[in-house]
Amino acid sequence: MRATLVVVTLIVIAIAAPTMAAQKVELSIDASKTGAKIDRNLFGQFAEHLGHGIYNGIWVGSDSTIPNTRGIRNDVVAALKMIHVPNVRWPGGCFADEYHWRDGIGPQRVVRLNPNWGGVIEPNTFGTHEFMDFIDQIGSEAYVSVNLGSGSPHEAADWLEYMTAAQATTLEKERAANGHPAPYKVAWLGLGNESWDCGGNMTPEYYLDRMKIFSRFVRNYNPAQIEKDQMLKIAVGPGGGEQRWTDWTETVMKAYQQHTWSWDINGLSMHNYTVVKWPPSYKSVGFGESEYSQILQSTLEMDGLISKHSAIMDKYDPDKKVALVVDEWGGWYAPLPGSNPGFLVQQNSLRDAILAALNLNIFARHADRVRGANIAQMINVLQAMIITDKEKMVLTPTYYVFKMYVPFQDATFVPVTFDAGSYAHDNVTLPRVDAIAAKDTTGKLWLSITNLDPNQSVEIEASLEGIIAAKSASGMALTAPKVDSVNTFDAPNTVVPKPITAKIDGGKLSLKLEPKSVTVVSVGASPVPLRTDNAAAKTQR
Ligand code: AHR
Repeated sequence: MRATLVVVTLIVIAIAAPTMAAQKVELSIDASKTGAKIDRNLFGQFAEHLGHGIYNGIWVGSDSTIPNTRGIRNDVVAALKMIHVPNVRWPGGCFADEYHWRDGIGPQRVVRLNPNWGGVIEPNTFGTHEFMDFIDQIGSEAYVSVNLGSGSPHEAADWLEYMTAAQATTLEKERAANGHPAPYKVAWLGLGNESWDCGGNMTPEYYLDRMKIFSRFVRNYNPAQIEKDQMLKIAVGPGGGEQRWTDWTETVMKAYQQHTWSWDINGLSMHNYTVVKWPPSYKSVGFGESEYSQILQSTLEMDGLISKHSAIMDKYDPDKKVALVVDEWGGWYAPLPGSNPGFLVQQNSLRDAILAALNLNIFARHADRVRGANIAQMINVLQAMIITDKEKMVLTPTYYVFKMYVPFQDATFVPVTFDAGSYAHDNVTLPRVDAIAAKDTTGKLWLSITNLDPNQSVEIEASLEGIIAAKSASGMALTAPKVDSVNTFDAPNTVVPKPITAKIDGGKLSLKLEPKSVTVVSVGASPVPLRTDNAAAKTQR
């Protein structure tokens, strides 16, 4: 009996051993061959008046017991500063096309309903000044979407004059009386949102006519934005790959090619959520490998979608003057049980971290055309960076990917060649690894490698050319016990990056990637700070 058991055990080990062996993947990086700049605005955020995205997420009011500065949560500001948020898109989303800016200024705010998102009360206590204060506190820039749906060009033009005028107009004086004499900087201007759907269900031709009027009359008067730092105007673009979306891109870009002095755009927006099918039904926690692989398969479709719309843009704008701005992206899952379905509350797991890395890599590879992106959404909504509940705050796995990718902001793309291999589950086959490299502004090389395979580790051997010889590489790796591992208020450090080092020998970097992990290393650099922010957040409380 004992002998039989040993034989059976050996057979099991013999069968299991080959599948558990680390897979080998060779990368080749020549840092002397550089590509486009990876615009820091690819790491933008989106904060809509939706659920607890603004209220409780950012804004608690100055009389709250939650530590705040002029009503804005200190813990959230400290966390966001760490990820160098380049811009925040606000106030929506669908909310933007029903937003009337006058409701949110001055001592008397207009209380309204928020019909798009749960039909709840919108107190408008967070308005223009509070948003700009928030932007200032986190060291970011404003991407303001004006109401092109239910609003008028006149209303939007007045808002911009209110925010940006330096001369003593009535609106400038009103802004000063409301506490801000200096003009605000509006870096980006959204000309509507999803005008093909919640923004007014317009045809592309109707949108185009309306957008031209907004582009013409909604002016930025800030003297610091006249000669340089000009405001970028972003037109509504596609929301998918079907013909109605390619028609939309064609219509706007064809008009752009023939545009005259009287109107202009600098970007075309694109929205693409990872959802597999509408309505969102995949669980955000409590799922297994099937859902993991299906969601990753779906998210990789971002690449083809960008290529499709970039090809149309190339026809009319070969010099790539108009950026493609993916200003809504991320995983959209079923609402958490017990939550208000209109609040789009979901958990954020290791799968989301991997999803985020894959999308950021795709954007980086298209950096010549894709020069802006905003993950949806920053706090408490969809694929959030941060989850709060009253005084509690936790940083999500997605937050940590954004933190690990900070060195890629404004870095120069360096092509990486590799045979990704494959990982298969059920009927889904995915690349086993994905990788990007870039040189930062100091010339240091950064490499990000994602191992999609949740079961097997990967041995990376990367040949490095075109960089000063280094003996080691160091950085951070993010993984967790399960594909659906999450950080919670009680266990905030389940999915946090850990420091790693790797050796370089004979110009070759050797690195072991854990299953289902994201790793970012710099060659010859000092390690990224070891303390995790969730640990820091806990200490602060
Ligand atoms: O991010 C949630 C919603 O998704 C936005 O308001 C809208 O633009 C999109 O449909």
